[in-house]
Amino acid sequence: MNEKQYTTPLLTRLKEHAAQQPIQFHIPGHKGGRGMDPEFRNFIGESALSIDLINIAPLDDLHHPHGSIKEAQELAAEAFGAEHTFFSVQGTSGAIMTMVMSVCTPGDKIIVPRNVHKSVLSAIILAGGHPVFVHPVMDPRLGIAHGVTKKDVERAIHLHPDAKAVLLINPTYYGIAANLAEIVECVHGYGIPVLVDEAHGVQTHFHERLPMSAMQAGADMAATSVHKLGGSLTQSSVLNVQGNRINHRRVQSIISMLTTTSTSYILLASLDAARRHLATRGRELVENALQLADKARREINQIPGISCIGRELLGSDAVYDMDETKLIIHLHSLGITGYDAERWLRERWNIEVELSDLYNILCLVTPGDTPDSIEVLIRALRDLSSHFYTEGKQERKAAQLPDIPSLAVSPRDAFYANTVTIPFTESAGRIIAEFIMIYPPGIPVLLPGERITEENIEYIQKHMEAGLPVQGPEDPDIRMIRVIREPR
Ligand SMILES: Cc1ncc(COP(=O)(O)O)c(C=O)c1O
Repeated sequence: MNEKQYTTPLLTRLKEHAAQQPIQFHIPGHKGGRGMDPEFRNFIGESALSIDLINIAPLDDLHHPHGSIKEAQELAAEAFGAEHTFFSVQGTSGAIMTMVMSVCTPGDKIIVPRNVHKSVLSAIILAGGHPVFVHPVMDPRLGIAHGVTKKDVERAIHLHPDAKAVLLINPTYYGIAANLAEIVECVHGYGIPVLVDEAHGVQTHFHERLPMSAMQAGADMAATSVHKLGGSLTQSSVLNVQGNRINHRRVQSIISMLTTTSTSYILLASLDAARRHLATRGRELVENALQLADKARREINQIPGISCIGRELLGSDAVYDMDETKLIIHLHSLGITGYDAERWLRERWNIEVELSDLYNILCLVTPGDTPDSIEVLIRALRDLSSHFYTEGKQERKAAQLPDIPSLAVSPRDAFYANTVTIPFTESAGRIIAEFIMIYPPGIPVLLPGERITEENIEYIQKHMEAGLPVQGPEDPDIRMIRVIREPR
């Protein structure tokens, strides 16, 4: 490993600058915390506030990096196996929007899985693109969506050979990965670039037991949440780029277009430090998390009514590999939803899970865990089981994503169309002008331009009845919905 990976050019530069105690006549006006609310200052601490700085000349500029930010990005590129890395202070959402807008111009087609994050759809609206959806493989037992297959992606390319890019999710929120390298090779065979939403895969590059990272699989771009699992502060991510299908100068100008001019140096410094931690100790950190997760999985699988999904799930194209630090805890015989379990664990055990759905809760084991935190989780799950487990077969509602509705007009045209609000229950057959998504993790059931079906209405109502947050429309209760005004 390059010894420079042990250094942090940006964090070090910021600390040196703060140590010089320059007399500041620039923003932020709190000037190291002195001009701000004392309670907040004391809580956050002087060290953090001393590096809450802006793009004054000695500190480089994310929009035109040429000093310590450039050096930090270059080290990140080396660590992530990319040719170019761009820091994002607007989360992976900002990096995803940059990826899409780097390849899509108005009218261009882009092939995307249906279970994409809303930032992909926002980017398609901004770019004026035309989404071509590929259904993810649904898991009827777990009621969750996995990856897409090479066959389905190739079919979409045959139907839309003019597509400008294929976007894939690797791994999914639940940690499941498709055979990414094989899909990338296939898509590249058609001369089309592959963009990867790697929001949940920052660690994959650093341990051989985890699925392949997007850069290892040969993808052209990957938006990677360092903040989610890589140890940087919330909102900080990276955009990795390699190969010659993407013009990295265009990527720089687009990320700049989408980024605040007041970039947070605390976030940027946290990316620099997280990169060092991952590059120099990543394997060891992931190994520890894997061992804790292995133990948790073994113990959870002894608890009546609950199972923790493992490698037995694998074996198909779309379910090719998994990140075993993510504990998919399947509540097969408790007679409660994942959402109920989430609430119960919060109220009884002060435990916050990552997400819940109808049949599962997801718990993440990370380098922040200890044997003690895992022990508490196991004890809490035993308690949950003792409260709710009843022997015998439980009735299950079928879990399916509704068919992808037909796109009547482009999402952008629908978004800007002349619209009217009508009762949701009477909206079948109309063209929706807003998003409806199930949270978490924000899978779109309907998006602007699609024709609403009875099946969509039922699906959404079922989720609302189960207490799962459904979001998107202006009316948070989804009694009224905005649709395109139709000619009389
Ligand atoms: C699959 C997926 N992609 C992208 C994002 C967006 O990431 P961020 O919150 O960093 O903007 C998320 C966030 O949860 C996600 O789950």
